[in-house]
Amino acid sequence: MSIGISGLGIYAPKKIVTNDDLSKLVDTNDEWIYSRTGIRQRHVAEGEEDTLYMALEASKVAIQDANINPQDIDFIICSTVTREYAFPSVAALVQKALEIPSIPAFDMGPACGGFAYVLATAESYVKSGLAKKVLCICSEKLSDIIDWTDRNTCVLFGDAAGAVIIEENPSQATILKTIIGGDGAYGELLRMEKIGDKPPVVRMDGMGVFKSAIRIMDEQVREVCASAGKTIEDIDLLVPHQANARIMSAVAERLGIPVEKTYMNVAHYGNTSSVSVLLALADAKKEGILKEGMLVACPVLGAGFTWGASLLQY
Ligand code: UT7
Repeated sequence: MSIGISGLGIYAPKKIVTNDDLSKLVDTNDEWIYSRTGIRQRHVAEGEEDTLYMALEASKVAIQDANINPQDIDFIICSTVTREYAFPSVAALVQKALEIPSIPAFDMGPACGGFAYVLATAESYVKSGLAKKVLCICSEKLSDIIDWTDRNTCVLFGDAAGAVIIEENPSQATILKTIIGGDGAYGELLRMEKIGDKPPVVRMDGMGVFKSAIRIMDEQVREVCASAGKTIEDIDLLVPHQANARIMSAVAERLGIPVEKTYMNVAHYGNTSSVSVLLALADAKKEGILKEGMLVACPVLGAGFTWGASLLQY
């Protein structure tokens, strides 16, 4: 049974915040941010662009790209750590907005590990026969949970959404294998913290996350290749979670994958958590870098820690 991606859509908010803009908010500068992270700018949501709005916009593009009607969808999963309310879920609100008759719809919150988690979940439901066409969404309005006075974190993140349609006999890419994992023992390194009576904000041990991310994403690519009967040399394009250019380059180097085979667009969007791989796949396709016939490896890691990797045959 071949299960995979039949449609892909992304949405990035209209407002762009550059590193120079941030240097007016906190004690930082473009040289520090770019040399440490590879980030030049990020999109920041405003006005109506909340998590649901971005999820809906990306979903509409994915549905159109898959050449299906919203009513063909029979399952919705949304990965987000920034939904406005605990309930109803973003997935349920998307179902309502797209006028899809009653179907299962729920959210999950694996943070930056979200892409592998939604893919693994959707694939399992299709494989088991519980679903035929799954709308998988990742939507993150991280600007809501960032401490804009903390230069250690506020320069890193951006807002965006992405969506894919997962089904049998896919028209775009087959999921050869997706693996997921995690370990709460790393929880302290990247967490939400409540200070006084203010809403909780992101706090991070940057170097702790940095070192673990390189080691674990390297392991994940090796494991997903081994379980799919592929070698590292078979990989045509490495599309890692877009957290930081230095992390991605280090993962590629450890794997022996040349940097030309590693796709990065973190310069444009910053770290958009669960959305980042979808933004990268969409841009790589648009730029003609991601082509039919390519074997693509997508390792991810996020708060929890959650981690995973997908091997996609385009
Ligand atoms: O999805 C996973 C999410 N997390 C990540 O992607 C983060 C992973 N970690 C990282 O990307 C890196 O650890 C950072 C980019 C966050 C930091 O890079 P670094 O190489 O660990 O920084 P560094 O050790 O070279 O510099 C740290 C210094 C500190 O100053 P002192 O204490 O040495 O005087 C910071 O206060 O840099 C200072 N600093 C800044 N300076 C200017 C921290 N943030 C900034 C800033 N601008 N924005």
